Amino acid sequence: MISFILNDRLICTEKQPGMVLLDFIRYEMNLMGTKIGCREGDCGACTVLEGSLEHGKVNYKSIVSCLTPLGNVQGKHVVTIEGLQKDQMSPVQQAIIDHAATQCGFCTPGFVMSLTAHSLDGAPSDEQNVLASISGNICRCTGYKSIERAALDLSKALAHKDAEKNLDWLIEHAYIPDYFREIAGRLAEIQMETIKVSEGIPVGAGTDLFVQKADQLFPAQLQFLRSHPEFLKIEMGAEKCFIGASVTVTDMISNKELLSIFPKLKEHFKLISSEPIRNMGTVAGNIMNASPIADIVVFLLALDAIVHVKNKAGARRSLPLRKFYHGYKQTDLQDGELIEKVEFDVPAEGVFFNFEKVSKRRFLDIASVNSALRIHVEGNKILHADLSAGGVFPFPFYAERTAQFLAGKMLDEKTLIDASEILQKEIAPISDIRGTKEYKRLLLRQLFFAHFIELFPGFIAADNLLKKAVLS
Ligand SMILES: Cc1cc2nc3c(=O)[nH]c(=O)nc-3n(C[C@H](O)[C@H](O)[C@H](O)COP(=O)(O)OP(=O)(O)OC[C@H]3O[C@@H](n4cnc5c(N)ncnc54)[C@H](O)[C@@H]3O)c2cc1C
Ligand code: FES
Ligand code: FES
Repeated sequence: MISFILNDRLICTEKQPGMVLLDFIRYEMNLMGTKIGCREGDCGACTVLEGSLEHGKVNYKSIVSCLTPLGNVQGKHVVTIEGLQKDQMSPVQQAIIDHAATQCGFCTPGFVMSLTAHSLDGAPSDEQNVLASISGNICRCTGYKSIERAALDLSKALAHKDAEKNLDWLIEHAYIPDYFREIAGRLAEIQMETIKVSEGIPVGAGTDLFVQKADQLFPAQLQFLRSHPEFLKIEMGAEKCFIGASVTVTDMISNKELLSIFPKLKEHFKLISSEPIRNMGTVAGNIMNASPIADIVVFLLALDAIVHVKNKAGARRSLPLRKFYHGYKQTDLQDGELIEKVEFDVPAEGVFFNFEKVSKRRFLDIASVNSALRIHVEGNKILHADLSAGGVFPFPFYAERTAQFLAGKMLDEKTLIDASEILQKEIAPISDIRGTKEYKRLLLRQLFFAHFIELFPGFIAADNLLKKAVLS
């Protein structure tokens, strides 16, 4: 039995946990406001709100219902467009009307839900955040400028929000209906069956699995790991940081401790997908997806992260992430094993970190090539370096020979040019839809230099590097 609240109604259903929420909403509940577009997480037509009870408060985020299995909304509050105001327009809807930001209307419920999620966010609204909130919504007929104007107007109105009384303020100003007040109490009363973590196909958020094989997953036995408390923790010690398997991209960029050691984390991770996918996709899902360009993996590889794994009997083992992949989509994980968490060293003084990604579009696209660098420098001397890259090997790549070469060298142009040549010999890109192998070689060389230009501005001159470097 799966129990959750859909708008203001308690749902207890025996439906298959692998049924996608979108189909349940439309075909079981006859709520047709949530639209079907791509069914691949790309268009945002199916966006709904998902509220999770955390420390007595409900935390709302936008998610795509086409990739969300029912099993993942156990104990949650799901809000569709029908769950907003019935008798009057909400300020979000009114802003869309005022700016003529809708034509055929097919995408509009998705935009309204994304902007409503933004209104519910505790963080102050600004131009960047409000536009990011609709980054996962595509409109095919209105044109984005009027939608952007509606979003920016809304952001101005939200600037007056009383963050201390977030929910009361939003109800008073008709962003959300009155029944939201009761949701925290009602969620606390839902009888949660203990989520069993022992059998079946592991599911994080499903943003990879349900794109690839939703039909096969519908009848399958699944283990839902996304809300499992054991996998949700971010633990920061003086020397080590542990990130739970089901921590999402949004969890990471909202974590103050992580931001304190990676001040550019938001900037780097905003290059990953769109807001709803960032709200959903998990660390373990990114590792097990085993895509050659997996962004979180490339980030973690440069931190020389350790993967902690547990089997059905509870026996644990750990291994370096750089030893985790054996070939294209081949990982070290054995049947019945789960990733529990990843671990890396908290950067010490003199350690610098950078992440770069180039895709066909700057945002909302997977990488043609991505790369991360961690480097420990004392004066002008490189003590240690870890370099990773995606899109240049059958799996996310740890550039061992380049890293070994850099250790102990002076931080100067000659070192970087020599290292870039070693890097070219280590990689084996192939030509595909993301670019030719020659283009990917060129990209990685530029990204390698970009790490140093970004981390040591003024010290490393871009012009000189590019003039002197030759592409082998
Ligand atoms: C529209 C869209 C855009 C995307 N953009 C990007 C992008 O820019 N960059 C990027 O890197 N990725 C991107 N992705 C891919 C995907 O969202 C990420 O890889 C995400 O991190 C996957 O996490 P998940 O929890 O949804 O994985 P799931 O789909 O739940 O699972 C993926 C795999 O991991 C396994 N798994 C999950 N948890 C565990 C565990 N704890 N132990 C063992 N196995 C486990 C599952 O069995 C499955 O094999 C995108 C996806 C979509 C749909
Ligand atoms: S239908 Fe396109 S994102 Fe869900
Ligand atoms: S209004 Fe037609 S797709 Fe957006």
